[in-house]
Amino acid sequence: MGHGIAELFAIAGYEVSLVDVSQDILSKALRNIEESLVKIKERGRLKEDIQTILARIKPIVGDVCRAVEGVEVVVEAVVEDIEVKKRVFAEADRCAPPEAILATNTSSLPITEIAEAVKPERRPRVVGMHFFNPPPLMPLVEVIRSGYTSSETVNRAVEYARRLGKEPVVVNRDVPGFIVNRILARVNEAACWMVARGEATVQEIDSALMYKAGLPMGAFILMDYTGIDVVCFIGDAMLKRGFKTHPCPVITEKCQQKKYGVKTGEGFYKYP
Ligand code: CAA
Repeated sequence: MGHGIAELFAIAGYEVSLVDVSQDILSKALRNIEESLVKIKERGRLKEDIQTILARIKPIVGDVCRAVEGVEVVVEAVVEDIEVKKRVFAEADRCAPPEAILATNTSSLPITEIAEAVKPERRPRVVGMHFFNPPPLMPLVEVIRSGYTSSETVNRAVEYARRLGKEPVVVNRDVPGFIVNRILARVNEAACWMVARGEATVQEIDSALMYKAGLPMGAFILMDYTGIDVVCFIGDAMLKRGFKTHPCPVITEKCQQKKYGVKTGEGFYKYP
C-alpha cells in the first residue's frame, strides 16, 4: 500500500521520500504509481501532468534515516510484523524532526505498542492512519488514537487525510481491527463457515453480497483482492489481542496452500 499512499501525497503537492528495501521494489512501485496516475488522468481527475507529480517522489533504498530528514509526517506501511514496525519507528524517531508525526498504516497491530518503540517525548505524535486498497480510489482513512496520541496529533492526521481528498473517521481507542477489519472479520468468518458447512458456495455468497447487500465486492472476491495471507494475518493478530474469532478451515487451508488470491494467481477464484 505504500506506493498508493506516496501517490496520494504527491498528487496533493507534497515532496515525498519513498523508502523500501530494494531498487527492484522501488522501480515496481514507481511503475504502479505511473499506471495509476494515467488512469486518474484519463478520468480527468488530475490537475497537473503526470511527470510533475512523479518528480515529487524521491525513491530511497533502505535508508529510513535519510528518508525522514526534515519531514513533517512519516507514514509507515512495512510488513505486518510488530518487530519490524518497531525497528522502523525507532529509526524514524532518531532522524525525523521532533515535531514530525509518525503514522502507521497497520491493519490490526497495537499502535500503543508500536509507539513504545520511540522516545517518550515523541509518543504523543504517534498515530494510526489506516488506508484501504487501492488507496487512490478508496475514500476512507481510519485515524486511530493510541494510548499515547495527543488530540493535536489526531487533528493533524485528520487534516492530512482531508488534504489527500479522503474521508477520515477517528477511532478513539486502539482496539483490535479498529472499525473496518473488526466488522469484516465477522463477515468473512460467517461467509466461510457457510461454505465449510455446505450451506452455500463461494459464488452464491458473493452474488448475494454484491447483488442484494450492495457491497462492491463479495467477501471472497475481496479476500482474494486484499490477499488471503493478509486476512489470516489480521485474524491471528486480532485473536492474540483478545478478539474472539472462530477461524474457519476454508480460509486457513488457503493460507497453508499459499493460495493467497490475485497476487498468486489463485485464491477462492483463479486469475489468469
Ligand atoms: N488507481 C487509479 N485508478 C484506478 C485504479 C488505481 N489503482 N484501479 C482502478 N482504477 C480506475 C479504473 O481505471 C476505472 O476507471 P474508469 O471508470 O474510468 O474505467 C475505475 O478506477 C474503476 O475501476 P474498475 O472498473 O476496475 O473497478 P470498480 O468500478 O469495480 O471499482 C474498486 C474498483 C474501487 C476497487 C471497487 O471494486 C471497490 O470498492 N472494492 C472494494 C475494495 C475494498 O473494500 N478495499 C478495502 C480492502 S481492505 C484493506 O485494504 C485494508 C486492510 O486492512 C487489508
